[in-house]
Parts: sequence; C-alpha cells; structure tokens
Amino acid sequence: MQIYVFLGAPGAGKGTAAARIANDADIHHVSTGAMLRDAVKNGTPAGLSAKKYMDKGTLVPDQVLVDMLGELLSTSKKDATIILDGFPRNENQALQLDELAAKHGATVKAAIDIEAPNELLISRLGGRQVCPSCGMGYHVTNMPPKREGVCDKCGTALITRNDDKPETIKKRLEVYAEQTAPLIGLYKKAGKLRTVNGADEADKVAKKIAAIIKG
Ligand code: AP5
Repeated sequence: MQIYVFLGAPGAGKGTAAARIANDADIHHVSTGAMLRDAVKNGTPAGLSAKKYMDKGTLVPDQVLVDMLGELLSTSKKDATIILDGFPRNENQALQLDELAAKHGATVKAAIDIEAPNELLISRLGGRQVCPSCGMGYHVTNMPPKREGVCDKCGTALITRNDDKPETIKKRLEVYAEQTAPLIGLYKKAGKLRTVNGADEADKVAKKIAAIIKG
C-alpha cells in the first residue's frame, strides 16, 4: 500500500486535485473531511461527536480520525495507492499515521504541499459549492457547474458547506497555521516533502501531482 499525504490549507485545492487524479487512475481518494461529513449525515456516534468541532472550524479529536483511518487501511487492498486528503493535521496524527502504516504494511511515499496565498483561499472557500450526493466540488465563478446550482456529475442540487461561513473560514485558517502547517517541516526533514503551486489552474495542479505519484 502506498500513501500520498496531501497537505495544504483549507481551499488550497486538495479535494479538487485529488478528485481529478483519482478519476484518471486506479488511485483511492480518502478525504477525512468527507468521511466525517458522511458520519454527521448518517448520525453515527463518531459523526455526532465530530459535528460541534467541524461547525466551529476546529479539529475533531485525534482518536476519532485514527479509528476511522485504521478501519479503512485494514480493509484496503495491499497494492492500493491512496491519497490521504486531510490527514494528518497535527504532529500526533503524523505519528499515528506512521504507526498505522507500519501495522498495515503501507508506506508513506510523499507529502504533497499545495501552496496558495490566504486571499485566494478565502475567495475560493467563500464561493465554494459542493454536491451533497457525490462530493464533487464547484466554485460560483472559478468553476461553475454547467447548470446553475446543479451537479454536472449526478444532477443533485448543490449546497454550501456549513463551515464555509466567513467566521468559520477564518478559524479554519488559524487552526491550519497553528497545527497543520508545522507538518511541512516535519516531512521536509524526513525527505518526503513535495511542493506544488495551488494558485495554478486546477488541471495543471492535478497534472503536476499525478506526475509526482507516477514517479
Ligand atoms: P476538510 O473537508 O478536510 O476541509 P479543509 O482541509 O478545510 O479543506 P477544504 O475541503 O476546505 O479545502 P480543499 O483544499 O480540499 O479545497 P477544494 O479543492 O474544495 O475538513 C473539514 C473539517 O473536518 C475540519 O475543519 C475538521 O473539523 C474536520 N477534520 C477533517 N480531517 C480532520 C483530521 N484529520 N483531524 C481532525 N479534524 C479533521 O477547493 C476549494 C474551492 O476552490 C472550490 O470551490 C474549488 O472549486 C476551488 N478551486 C480548487 N482548486 C482550484 C484551482 N486550482 N483554481 C481555481 N479554483 C480552484
């Protein structure tokens, strides 16, 4: 099992790039944010405990995520290539990922940091629309759907995420700077850091990352 960690602030384009790459190849896109949103929607115990943190823009307790990820790795194929979009998000989660990887015979091949300036992140998140059914992401001006408010892929009405309100966006960016950005140095020290410019056009970002994964 080969794991590629996607680092990058909220709105950097992790989900957008991962969806494009996973579409074109036999690569499994695992978004911990999407897993949590599903758990909230389904009213599971993990979802019920996660909702209050997500609505505030803070991190859900590590153990909830470690349990989810452990379950996922234990049911993944041994030859799978996995994009981890949204995990790890702090130093403890990075340590836990190494332990889980060792336990399941997986290797963290690289951490790909998608960089973008704060003004761009704020304007992207402020205009984001998502499909609650298939998870496809759009932007009202940058990446609009063909029919306003309707998912191109599955025809479901698009929604705005609960945590894309201005005050929650601000909090998420602060949490990223404090807790997740330090992982960039950690993976750099381990010789696993790769950086791409997230301000580039979405297809270009995806192509650059796909090339890193193909080696
Ligand atoms: P999560 O769902 O992971 O949110 P996030 O990290 O804040 O990232 P986003 O999904 O907001 O941004 P993205 O980089 O994927 O951007 P996107 O591609 O959508 O997490 C949500 C919450 O869950 C967290 O706050 C936390 O509470 C909890 N959580 C999740 N994982 C956790 C963990 N490990 N531990 C603890 N808690 C956890 O793009 C954004 C917009 O920009 C879109 O509109 C898109 O169309 C547009 N866009 C993207 N790329 C481009 C481009 N290149 N050019 C033009 N527009 C673009």
